[in-house]
Amino acid sequence: MTKQIRFMETVLRDGQQSQIATRMSTENMLPIIKTMDEAGFHSLEMWGGATFDSCLRFLNEDPWERLRRIRKEVKNTKLQMLLRGQNLLGYKNYADDVVREFVMKSVENGIDIVRVFDALNDTRNLKTAIEACKEAGGHCQTAISYTTSDFHTVDYFVGLAKEMAELGADSICIKDMAGVLTPATGFELVSRIKDSIALPLEVHTHATSGISEMTYLKVAEAGADIIDTAISSFSGGTSQPATESVAIALSGLGFDTGLKMDKLEEIANYFNPIRDHFRNEGVLNPKVKDTEPKTLIYQVPGGMLSNLLSQLTEQGNADKYDEVLAEVPKVRADLGFPPLVTPLSQMVGTQALMNILAGERYKMVPNEIKDYVRGLYGKPPVAIKAAIKEKIIGDETVITQRPADLLAPQLPAFEAEIKQYAKSTEDVLSYAVFPQQAKDFLGRREDPFYDVPLQTVNVKIEIQ
Ligand code: CO
Repeated sequence: MTKQIRFMETVLRDGQQSQIATRMSTENMLPIIKTMDEAGFHSLEMWGGATFDSCLRFLNEDPWERLRRIRKEVKNTKLQMLLRGQNLLGYKNYADDVVREFVMKSVENGIDIVRVFDALNDTRNLKTAIEACKEAGGHCQTAISYTTSDFHTVDYFVGLAKEMAELGADSICIKDMAGVLTPATGFELVSRIKDSIALPLEVHTHATSGISEMTYLKVAEAGADIIDTAISSFSGGTSQPATESVAIALSGLGFDTGLKMDKLEEIANYFNPIRDHFRNEGVLNPKVKDTEPKTLIYQVPGGMLSNLLSQLTEQGNADKYDEVLAEVPKVRADLGFPPLVTPLSQMVGTQALMNILAGERYKMVPNEIKDYVRGLYGKPPVAIKAAIKEKIIGDETVITQRPADLLAPQLPAFEAEIKQYAKSTEDVLSYAVFPQQAKDFLGRREDPFYDVPLQTVNVKIEIQ
């Protein structure tokens, strides 16, 4: 019996997000979309994550229009997006009415599969998105934010997968945004989850640390149904391993990949000059293609390493890099071992930086960290020690209910605030998720005298 493995192609979302700060425009994508649709992919990841922000902020594009234009061309392949549960695509919790409407409209405009994750693996933050996705007729894939700590055992992750299945997930993804899933653990995790639940299982990793191809081989052997790769032009380093290479290797080992190699070659030939263009413009920093085993040593995502280095360099403190790097795992332990994925990756990084630069731990604490300790992001994987809590929020009480239960409906207020420019519910949702960027985009679109230039500065790397 031939073993099967299917591929999700990430070049339109994670591949370009990880290597060119999500600057690829819809015009860059459209000429090759038909070929991508004919290549035999299980799905194309093309929306959500940082694409939405980038469309509005840098590209002067309506993200909803991108989705509709691509959907029109794609007849055979599923379109997939990445959503951060109750945070949607932003950094804070939204009320249920906004989450519901956003997910419904995503499916209505053409998304087939919504991959939804929570930075803390608090499944209460996934519930509304799962329900809305299913109600809209979409496929809801829940993702486990994979991380390592004494608490994050294989048993824990298997339990989490079961919990997600009970909540109504249509498939499960092991989402290793940092590239720290080893071949050995990957094999064990996939085998155990496949033994425990009957849902399709997908594995997502990054090539940062240099082990991703080995991990994909072992998870394929263990029975993973789908793996995530990026066409060679935007592969390797901080992105996913190369689609063509993994496909050739696995088919040589007897796997049916369903992929058409001549189409993959055409896709790579199309994207190579686009990659070269971004490299010549200085958007693609050659460092993103490097192998960074420090990721495995410090268990810190590659994107976080470069964010910290650029923050320190800007402030003239580049010599403190190693000290800050050593502080990151300590802050993470203090905060109950949150997975280092957006927004927790940025929050933990900033706190580590402040601890070192202030010369005293938790002398300076950003509001986001205070809210996290107050329970407003959800339940930390491990309870935060009383002494740390006391140092950060004094004797304030910590909430134990689902954070979004504290939020009254928000859509009516968003509608009122942006009614001057919004022409559709989609416009209101853009405004809800990225108020300033959406207002500027819609203002430029609707008002010839709206004179706010597009932003061009680089943003921090999102780790997803
Ligand atoms: Co990713």
